[in-house]
Amino acid sequence: MLILSFESSCDETAAALVRDGRTVERSLVRSQVEEHRLYGGVVPEIASRRHIEAIAGLYGAVFEGTGYGMEDVEAVAVTYAPGLIGALLVGVNFAKSLSMACGKPLVPVHHLRGHIAANYLAHPKLEPPFLCLVVSGGHSHIVEVLDYTQFRVVGRTRDDAAGEAFDKAARALGFPYPGGVYMDKAAAQGNPKAYAFPHPKLSTPYDFSFSGLKTAVVNLLHNASQKGEELNPYDVAAAFQETVTDILTEKLFGAAEELGYRRIVAAGGVSANSALRRKLEAGCRERGWEFFVPPLALCGDNAAMIGAQGYYEYLAGVRGGLDLNAYATMEI
Ligand code: KG4
Ligand code: ZN
Repeated sequence: MLILSFESSCDETAAALVRDGRTVERSLVRSQVEEHRLYGGVVPEIASRRHIEAIAGLYGAVFEGTGYGMEDVEAVAVTYAPGLIGALLVGVNFAKSLSMACGKPLVPVHHLRGHIAANYLAHPKLEPPFLCLVVSGGHSHIVEVLDYTQFRVVGRTRDDAAGEAFDKAARALGFPYPGGVYMDKAAAQGNPKAYAFPHPKLSTPYDFSFSGLKTAVVNLLHNASQKGEELNPYDVAAAFQETVTDILTEKLFGAAEELGYRRIVAAGGVSANSALRRKLEAGCRERGWEFFVPPLALCGDNAAMIGAQGYYEYLAGVRGGLDLNAYATMEI
């Protein structure tokens, strides 16, 4: 079954054709990051406008060279939450119009469910149940994936998401937006033990808090500049990355032990982080557990993951009507 999918929740406009939730026939991503970089972050108004300019062209281009046309598509899937509301509305309205004009069912997909489903594309044998760390620019969750469309959040961030913390620390260090990938590269050249950053203690053991860590980086830089000292930004990046990835890994393994999961999955933009991948992989290997993470190209935002999850939502009977709306926030 062929699904045409769209994603426009943040600063990537994307369209894809996905077969049976597992095979990417074609996936196109148009990133706006170069433009938002000028402002040090995503400008929602610009994001919406660029989605509008891009989405119809991507719809045309996604069929090119595949031999498929709209007549081969059985359903249209689209990200409808969470994200920037104006950005989401572009994808939702385009998908809704297409569904109405072509008489194809419309399937609304939650963005984080999509991130998790990126793993189904990369790992054909992966099936729920499993415990998933979902770490992106807007969210940090530990989620029990009970079934393809059944989720239970075990832990979440109380303030900044992991990606947001990476981006803010990167900004303080003078790296371009979005800083996560620059932090990862810089960290490779630094000493992760150069600084000891705090591990926040929370009453709920599987929740996260990253805003204090960002403040610790800012204070470290500020104090050094007041004393006229030069800090090595590679060491700061390495120590920061070490702390964030230690926290994510410890909490995920703690939750897995308590809940009895032996199959661990990571997803979302931050799952591209090399230290995080290494630690999760090594920790699972030591314990004899299974570990799955998408290839780098499927960690960030894309429409193929929406097509993958869209398939399972479709099978579960999920449909969007002509009154389908977009939502800036929504529980998974
Ligand atoms: O999932 P995503 O593409 O978009 C959202 O749904 O938010 O995640 C983007 C986030 C950004 O904060 C970006 O800096 C972070 O993922 N990121 C990374 C890396 N690559 C992307 N963070 C740490 N290390 C990386 N290699
Ligand atoms: Zn995302």
